[in-house]
Amino acid sequence: MMIKKLEWHQGYAIDILKIDFQHLTFLQIINELIEMFNNEETDNKADRMKRKLSEVIKYTKFHFESEENVMLDNNFPNYAEHKKLHIEIIDKLDFQIYNFENNTKMFIDFIEFLKHWFFEHIVTEDIKISDYFKKHNILPK
Ligand SMILES: [Fe+2]
Ligand SMILES: [Fe+2]
Repeated sequence: MMIKKLEWHQGYAIDILKIDFQHLTFLQIINELIEMFNNEETDNKADRMKRKLSEVIKYTKFHFESEENVMLDNNFPNYAEHKKLHIEIIDKLDFQIYNFENNTKMFIDFIEFLKHWFFEHIVTEDIKISDYFKKHNILPK
């Protein structure tokens, strides 16, 4: 069973360079995870996957914090609301990881879960930050 790697689409770009860069990096980390899964068995595969999963979690937390700082530094009015959505995602992610077992079905479900919330969140929520900045001629710090 092979999982298809994710592709970056221009529609994911929200025109805030720092944030776009982080979203792209996130996609790359997910692809590294998919590549590990698709590759043939190696002795330390389970260990490497575990480390990569930990990277996904940490990068997600870092990204949310960084994005929240962009909102705060530029007086984005819906900061609290947006932060709440981040917390919900982190809770779900922590729950998934806590219950994660190294089997194919669970891994595929996990990738689907990551793909869904992350890209859904970019195009429905993160875009609002950028729309606000554009509307008020704010060049984000
Ligand atoms: Fe966000
Ligand atoms: Fe984001």
